Amino acid sequence: MRGNERVELRSRTREAHQRVDAAVGTLSTLEDYRRYVAHVLPFRVTMDEALRNVSWPEGWNWQPSAVAELLAQDARDLGVPPVRHEQPDFDLSDPSALLGALYVVEGSSLGARVLRQRALKLGLDETFGARHLVSMASDTTRWPSFLSLLEGTPNYDLGRSVVAANAVFALALSCFESTSLAAS
Ligand code: HEM
Repeated sequence: MRGNERVELRSRTREAHQRVDAAVGTLSTLEDYRRYVAHVLPFRVTMDEALRNVSWPEGWNWQPSAVAELLAQDARDLGVPPVRHEQPDFDLSDPSALLGALYVVEGSSLGARVLRQRALKLGLDETFGARHLVSMASDTTRWPSFLSLLEGTPNYDLGRSVVAANAVFALALSCFESTSLAAS
């Protein structure tokens, strides 16, 4: 039934989200936070690029937020070296798959509100080290506007959307579980 798309996506990606959440951890030290930045950077760079290369469905007057640049600036603030991109193995040419991927990318702004609080405790903010989190967490209009798109897209296929959402979570997890840590 239309209107339940978000509820379904949330419940069918819950396990993947929990694994990402556990991989990020509590960010209680600056070193933890640097490691988080080193690992989230390739995820966001890869996703921003994948989304830039998608041919946008007709009639969608909505664009995803690009945070890779702010994140790269945070990495420079913290002395985290540049990272190589990952190779995404999903196809976002189908609108339902694209919506599933966007659900993950945009939904991460909700979690950013929690991470921003943790970063603040480490003395990081929109001027140094936590630019991407402050930007993601402050934009409160994007998420509802994304949900309108999700709920209003005709011929939506939940199955395809869930597969893409879980593939994007798997990409995030592979970035967070990567053993290549930032050099000091
Ligand atoms: C790249 C990493 C992450 C991705 C892709 C991601 C993705 C998402 C998505 C898709 C949602 C929306 C769920 C819904 O439909 O309500 C969400 C919400 C949320 N995430 Fe994450 N998340 C990430 C990291 C984290 C981390 C590390 C935390 C740890 C605190 C976290 C905490 C939360 C919380 C608390 C919410 C719900 C907020 C609310 O309902 O107001 N997330 N995230």
